[in-house]
Amino acid sequence: MAALTKILILGGTGEGMALARALIDLPGLEIVSSLAGRVANPKLPPGAVRIGGFGGATGLAAYLRDQGITAIVDATHPFARRMGWNAAEAANLVGLPLLRLERPAWSPVAGDRWVEVDDWAQAAAILQRGARRVFLALGRQELAPFANLTGIHLVIRSVEPPDAALHFADAEIVLARGPFKLEDERALLTSRSIDHLVCKNSGGSATDAKLQAARERGVTVVMQRRPPRPDTSRVADVDAAIAWVRAL
Ligand SMILES: NC(=O)c1ccc[n+]([C@@H]2O[C@H](COP(=O)([O-])OP(=O)(O)OC[C@H]3O[C@@H](n4cnc5c(N)ncnc54)[C@H](OP(=O)(O)O)[C@@H]3O)[C@@H](O)[C@H]2O)c1
Repeated sequence: MAALTKILILGGTGEGMALARALIDLPGLEIVSSLAGRVANPKLPPGAVRIGGFGGATGLAAYLRDQGITAIVDATHPFARRMGWNAAEAANLVGLPLLRLERPAWSPVAGDRWVEVDDWAQAAAILQRGARRVFLALGRQELAPFANLTGIHLVIRSVEPPDAALHFADAEIVLARGPFKLEDERALLTSRSIDHLVCKNSGGSATDAKLQAARERGVTVVMQRRPPRPDTSRVADVDAAIAWVRAL
C-alpha cells in the first residue's frame, strides 16, 4: 500500500537525525533524509537516504514531484545559508507544506561580553583593533579571513586541519570535535590566556560550554549572527516537528 504521507527531511544535523529516528516507525508514513554530501563517511539516519545537491530550487521541485513527496522538513544547520531558501521556493512551486526545524539561538546573559557580527571579515577587523590572544572555534573553511591578522596569537580549534595554503603568522592548531566539557573549555582559555573567542551562534548544548567559560574569565565573544531565513512555519525541537507531521 502506498504511504499516505512521504516526508523529505533536509538534514545534516543532529535534529535531522533525531527526527528520522522518531518518524521511522510511524504507520502510514514514509521518510527520505537528504544530506548535502560534504562529509566523507556521514552517519546515516534510518530509512531512505539520498545524498548530494538537487540543482537549486527548480531541481528540488522536480525531485519533489518525481518522488511523490507530500511534505518537507528543513532541518538543515542554522548556518546553512542557501538550502532553506531553495526549500521555500520549491515548496511554493509544488504546493507542499514546509516546516523549519531550528534549534534556538544562544542569547547573551548577565556577565557576557558579546560583539555580534554578520561575517568573518567584520570579526577579523574587530580582532585587529584590540585582541592579542584569540580562540577561533570555527570550521576549517571559515579561517581565511583571519589569516592576515598581525600581532595576534591564534588558537584554532576545528575538526579537520586548516587548508595547507593558508598561512598564519602565529597560530596553534587544536584538532577536536564537540561536545566539549566546561572544565576543558576553562582549561583551554586559561592555559592560552585567551582574551577573545570567535564563534558562530549555532545554539544547542553540545558547544555552549565555551560561552560559560568565556563569561567566567571576562573573555570577549565575537559572535556571528545567524543568516536570514525565509518566513515559514517553524519549530524549535524535534517533539514539535513530530506533532506537526502527525497533524498533516
Ligand atoms: N554551514 C554549517 O555551519 C553547517 C554545520 C553543520 C552541518 N551543516 C550541514 O551541511 C550541509 C551543507 O551546508 P552548507 O552550509 O553548504 O548549506 P547551504 O549553503 O544551505 O547549501 C548549499 C547547497 O548545498 C546543497 N545542500 C545543502 N544542504 C543539503 C541537504 N540537506 N540535502 C541536499 N543538498 C543540500 C544544496 O545544493 P543544490 O542547490 O544543488 O540543491 C544547496 O544549495 C547542510 O545540509 C547542513 O545542514 C552545515
